[in-house]
Formats: sequence, C-alpha cells, structure tokens
Amino acid sequence: MVTMDQKTLRETAGQKFLGVGGGILAPHRADEAIAFFDEVRRIEPVLYLGEDSWLITRHEDARAILRDTRFSNNETAVHRDGEEPYGEGFARSMLFMDPPDHTRLRSLVQQAFAPRRLKSLEDDIEQAVDELLDAVVDQGRMDVVADYARPLPVWVISSILDVPEPDREHIQDLAQDSSLTLDMEYLSNEATERALNASVALQDYFRDFVEARRISPGDDVLSGMIAAEESGEVLSNDEIVAMADLLFVAGHETTVNLIGNGTRAMLDNEDSLARLAANPELITSAIEESLRFAPSVTVNGRTASMDLAVGDKCIKRGQHVIIPMGAVNRDPERFPDPHRFDVGRKDNAHLTFSIGPHVCLGAFLARMEARIAWRRMLERITDIASLGPSRYREHVTLRGLESVDITFTAAS
Ligand code: HEM
Repeated sequence: MVTMDQKTLRETAGQKFLGVGGGILAPHRADEAIAFFDEVRRIEPVLYLGEDSWLITRHEDARAILRDTRFSNNETAVHRDGEEPYGEGFARSMLFMDPPDHTRLRSLVQQAFAPRRLKSLEDDIEQAVDELLDAVVDQGRMDVVADYARPLPVWVISSILDVPEPDREHIQDLAQDSSLTLDMEYLSNEATERALNASVALQDYFRDFVEARRISPGDDVLSGMIAAEESGEVLSNDEIVAMADLLFVAGHETTVNLIGNGTRAMLDNEDSLARLAANPELITSAIEESLRFAPSVTVNGRTASMDLAVGDKCIKRGQHVIIPMGAVNRDPERFPDPHRFDVGRKDNAHLTFSIGPHVCLGAFLARMEARIAWRRMLERITDIASLGPSRYREHVTLRGLESVDITFTAAS
C-alpha cells in the first residue's frame, strides 16, 4: 500500500535534483539536502526519481552497490552495448571503466600508492608544510585554503608524477576547472565550456609529458607504465595519458577540500580544534570524521548493467543510482547521533573514499597529507579563531570552500 507520505515524496522528489547548479546537491543547499535525505530514508530508502534515476539513502545499500561490479562505472558502455566504450579525456580513465580493463590498469599503478612506498614521502611533506607555515606564522592570520591547503596536494602529486616545478601552477588551474567535468549535468553553458577547454588543455599537457618520459624515463609511476607498455603489456598511449590526468585531478582538489572543509567543521563545532590540539592522538578519528561529515567528494553513482535488486526495489538495466554522502554517511543505523561532528568518533565506516574495486587509490596519501598538515598547524599556532563564515565554490561533486580565514597566535 502506498502511504500519503510516499505518494507526496514520489511526486516531488525528482524536481529537487533538476537545474543548473545541481538542484538540492548544490553546496549551499547542504543542510536542506541532509534533512531531505533523512526523510527519504525514513519513508522510501530506495526512491525512484524519474528519468531512470534512483536515490540511495541507506549506508548498507550503498555499500552493497559499490562492491558489486554488476553496477557499472561505465555508463556509456551499458547504454551502447559495449560499442565505443569510453569517452574522451578524463572520461577515458580507469575511474570510468569496469573489469577487466579497470583491473589491468589499476594493477599497474597500485604499487606506487601503497603505504610502504608513500611512507618515504613523509619527511618531505612535513618540510613542505613547515615552509607554508613559516610564510604566515608571524602575520597572526591566514586563509587556510589559499595559504595552506591549496599549495600542498599539488606539490605532493607533482612530486609523485615528477611534474617540473615551473609547470605546476598552470596545470593546477587547469585541473581545478577540468574537475568540473564531473558536474556536467549541473553546469551553466559558460562553466561547461571552461571545463571542457581545461580538460583538453590538460590532456595536451600530459600527452607531451608522456612523450618526454618516453625519451628520458625516470622512476616515477608514469615511466613505470611506459616501461610496461614497451615490454609488451597491453596498454595504449591514450590510457597512460588518461592515467596521468586522473592521478593529477583526483590527487589534488579532493585533498585541498579535505583540509579546508575539515578545518571549517572543526571551527564550527564545539571547540573541536582546541580538543584536537589538547589530544593529538585524536588526529586519526578527526580526519575520518571530517571525511564523513564534510565530505570533499559529495556524491557517487553507478549504472545497473542488468536488472538488479536493491532493498525491495528492482533497478532496471541502464538505470542510474545516485549515492549522496550526505545521505549514506548520516544513516543513524550505522552512525549513532549522525548529525553531530565528533572528532573522537569511533568505528567511522564512512563511504567518502568509496569501497570495493574502485576504492580511492589515494586514500592513504590523502590521510597522510591531512595528518601532517593538521598536526604541524596545531603544534605551531594556538588560539585559533574563525574570522567569519566561508562560501562554497561552484563545484557540486568535489565540494570545497573558497576560503577559511582564521586568526591565531604563534606557539612559543
Ligand atoms: C580526501 C581526498 C580524496 C577523496 C575524498 C577521494 C575520493 C575518491 C572516491 C570516492 C573514489 C572512487 C569513486 C568510485 O567509487 O567510483 C576515488 C577514486 C580514486 N582516487 Fe581518490 N579521493 C581522494 C584523494 C585522492 C588522492 C590524493 C589520490 C592520489 C592520486 C586519489 C586518486 C584516486 C584514483 C586514481 C581513483 C580511481 C580508482 C579506481 O577507479 O580504481 N584520490 N577517490
């Protein structure tokens, strides 16, 4: 039997997702979205939105979908029966592939992001962080985004890929605009054009970059892929270029926003920064809580490659599931008191890094950057106070703040 609640929800929910700017997924509507997802979860946790799209609000359902390869990352292939399976640019990367192509490509870069390999970067990251703090510590104020969070991940991922110093600023700007291609259905014409132009320019940059690596290889991750290709591994030049693009874009904006969004959440919620400063051992749980509560990737999704059951519903072949973190990371069945930000939260199984075969390859790296950045910040500055509220940037999928302005005293 359909209840009145269900009827109203079914008739109105689809409207909420329409429109330039992302509808209810728009960053400035985050609070409204979270309240709406709570209602949907209570009334109809797997909700049909119209236009072949379903909304998933339960943690358990999202977890099962993300682990199930019958839910495809490659919408184009599902819709075209495998013909011309991949799009252009960033869309050609393994993020939008299924096995066996996804498995083949991921296995070639996995080692470079293994904790054992990344540990050796720790001292260099700490030095980079200290240099950023040296530049502001005597001023008594900084913008945590522009002065601290933004320069760090680009430096780290450029070091891993061995991108030359003079090129970094330019491709950082391109990567920022290019990451907007993740929001294609929500963008204005102007933003679409900017995103596509940036994406083409970034591809061109990495095409030349891979050519240069062919002539003089190093011991970086892309030279490793080129060597694999030359020793007979099935691999195309386009796949290597798309990997470079993916690693740079994925390794950059997401981590800037983890540090920016997390700092904002700590400033806004019950002296969390002071609690963390007094209890440095809480750093791990503070990072996980920032990822859960103020996620820098706000929405994930899949396309059903065949008719598949989720809860009591059947998702038909070719239909999409939308998995917002504001819903599944706030499911009270999984997270007690889910709307409370708690830097000491235990057992924090958020889905911000996804789960299953596409689980974020850079999760260890992102956590390491945030850990060092917040640890050194709290060791070197005290009496941190917010200088006012922050505004979100236009990105929908990769949510981040324009600025987080603070005042502080240099620690003695
Ligand atoms: C807070 C920071 C980050 C967040 C929240 C994040 C989130 C995600 C998510 C949600 C996915 C999986 C999408 C899916 O299920 O389809 C993903 C994939 C990926 N991430 Fe991250 N990421 C972060 C940082 C990084 C960093 C630092 C790197 C470094 C290179 C990175 C590289 C990748 C790659 C290569 C993939 C594709 C994996 C695959 O398709 O197998 N990410 N990330």
